[in-house]
Amino acid sequence: MADVGIFVGTIYGNALLVAEEAQAILARLGHDAKVFEDPEATDWERYRNGYALVVTSTTGQGDLPDSIVPLFEAIKTIGWHPELQYGLIALGDSMYDNFCGAGKQFDALLQEQGATRLGEVLTIDASETTEPESVSNPWIEHWGTLIK
Ligand SMILES: Cc1cc2nc3c(=O)[nH]c(=O)nc-3n(C[C@H](O)[C@H](O)[C@H](O)COP(=O)(O)O)c2cc1C
Repeated sequence: MADVGIFVGTIYGNALLVAEEAQAILARLGHDAKVFEDPEATDWERYRNGYALVVTSTTGQGDLPDSIVPLFEAIKTIGWHPELQYGLIALGDSMYDNFCGAGKQFDALLQEQGATRLGEVLTIDASETTEPESVSNPWIEHWGTLIK
């Protein structure tokens, strides 16, 4: 069973709710998961050779929430991440032009840094559901079986 860092970017708390449910599901599957609400580089460093789950909403026009911008910038500085295996949950709203833009930016960054994504990026559309955890929970149940 694995240590998993769950890194959250949120404005109104929906992504945090998804992350907290993910933590509970992963714990039930036997993993040791920890949620980072205002993630810093030092938090990330602990998991960069293991497993990370990024859960972020999008704000502005396809922008990252302020809470996760410092981590995004730190990852660029840290550089190559060949050992990292990660999952990505992107919250957004298809009423906006850059649907789930922040999550897509994060995925592109981790791909550039040589990390391996486990599973597909999960996009959750606020126009289609008011309960994002009802979409993310089944996805996390599966994702949790991909990590060792
Ligand atoms: C001011 C504002 C700007 C937003 N911009 C985008 C956007 O560009 N793309 C997108 O997919 N969703 C956008 N959204 C939708 C949010 O990402 C979505 O409602 C999400 O569920 C919020 O999650 P949170 O509570 O974790 O912040 C925006 C929402 C607000 C209020």
